[in-house]
Amino acid sequence: MQWRNTSERYGVVTLCMHWAVAFAVFGLFGLGLWMTGLDYYSPWYQTAPSIHKGIGMLLLGLMVLRVVWRLSTPAPDGLPTHGRMTRLATRLGHAFLYAVLFAVMISGYLISTADGRPVSVFGLFEVPATLTSLPRQEDVAGLVHEYLAWALVVFAAIHALAALKHHFIDRDTTLLRMLGRS
Ligand code: HEM
Repeated sequence: MQWRNTSERYGVVTLCMHWAVAFAVFGLFGLGLWMTGLDYYSPWYQTAPSIHKGIGMLLLGLMVLRVVWRLSTPAPDGLPTHGRMTRLATRLGHAFLYAVLFAVMISGYLISTADGRPVSVFGLFEVPATLTSLPRQEDVAGLVHEYLAWALVVFAAIHALAALKHHFIDRDTTLLRMLGRS
């Protein structure tokens, strides 16, 4: 088991971060859809949003670590069977996923802190409000958060389908590498 990526394999840290983020993104999306439909008398009316925000802030921290880790240990080389267009599409797709993930998390933070209150992360610590005076901050950040969350899950689903296509149709090791095998 190796911690860092090599030119051929993903290391265990990248693998854990990739799957933790994937799980959190789909989980937060489902939780977000469900909680926005709750009525005031539901016992989850306050608990669900605070879980959503707590996990969202932890995910933001994890993504900052992931970017630092990514810069310190580059991804493995593309497979020799991948042509120039596939490599370019992969690179652009991954960059898009990183960018939209950050935009979704930052817009969520701006909704929660628009009134100047910090975000409590499961009562363990608080993330303070910083920007609070953007015009109609809560509404605008809310719309951005909702639309970009949809864009993120749709694109992540396309990304997952591409990985399955590599595995079942092209029969290459793209998916196996992300599962820690080669
Ligand atoms: C919200 C969900 C997901 C996000 C945000 C996401 C994001 C990413 C990112 C950013 C990378 C590039 C890693 C790097 O080099 O830094 C990556 C790679 C990869 N992901 Fe995902 N992913 C998600 C879900 C999935 C799922 C569900 C699958 C499979 C069914 C999958 C399969 C892969 C594979 C195979 C690679 C490696 C591609 C390669 O080496 O060319 N991902 N993912």
